[in-house]
Amino acid sequence: MSKPATFRLDRLLANLGYGSRREIHALARAGGIELDGVEVSDAERRIALTDDLTTRLKIDGRPLDPPPGIALMLHKPLGVTCSHKEAGPLVYDLLPARWRRRDPAISTVGRLDKDTSGLLLLTDDGALLHRIISPKAKLEKSYLATLARPLDGSEGAVFAAGTLMLEGEDKPLLPAGLEPLGPTLARVTITEGRYHQVRRMFAAVGNHVEALHRDRIGGLTLPDDLEPGKYRRLDAAAVAGIFGG
Ligand code: URA
Repeated sequence: MSKPATFRLDRLLANLGYGSRREIHALARAGGIELDGVEVSDAERRIALTDDLTTRLKIDGRPLDPPPGIALMLHKPLGVTCSHKEAGPLVYDLLPARWRRRDPAISTVGRLDKDTSGLLLLTDDGALLHRIISPKAKLEKSYLATLARPLDGSEGAVFAAGTLMLEGEDKPLLPAGLEPLGPTLARVTITEGRYHQVRRMFAAVGNHVEALHRDRIGGLTLPDDLEPGKYRRLDAAAVAGIFGG
């Protein structure tokens, strides 16, 4: 078995957003860092990044934040944006303030519009992010769309054809699934992530999406007990589950 990587405590804590290295040295001198119940006064000490570090290392009496390699699912509420370029509160504001100072930074895996709710993944693991959004992965994303006008029965075939062209684009969409759930309610399953894709798909067939909610990415479904605005960490098994593992 390979040995876990070791990190200097001051660097690890600075990268987790606990403060500048100078502040971390001051914290260590003040007795604010404990490993296995013993104060660590030397912030330059190297420690192994083991899975149990979050319970063994206490900062100001509290368990260490999750070390790098974090993956989260968030129930994105309506009205919150995924991009700093858009106005309004950010999804990052729903995470602990310190997490916004982490390096590597936590970022969303793809995006949901401000007016779309549901399952949003976040991670600081660039390789994982790319595995999920890579077109090669063809991971299914499933949405519940509430429509302004009743379905006319033709949409399923149009979406499944693999020939639907969105306005302003020169490449047709890959085949997508549509399951009618009511006169103005449908489940849409896509494997791409083009800009406002589901809304534009319905616009292309003369309808309009009034409300949109994503409830699944690959093998991961938004749990019923995860309230809007709340997040949950994904362990390795849950991450593997996204890819059907
Ligand atoms: N399609 C959309 O139109 N919006 C989203 O947020 C996601 C998919």
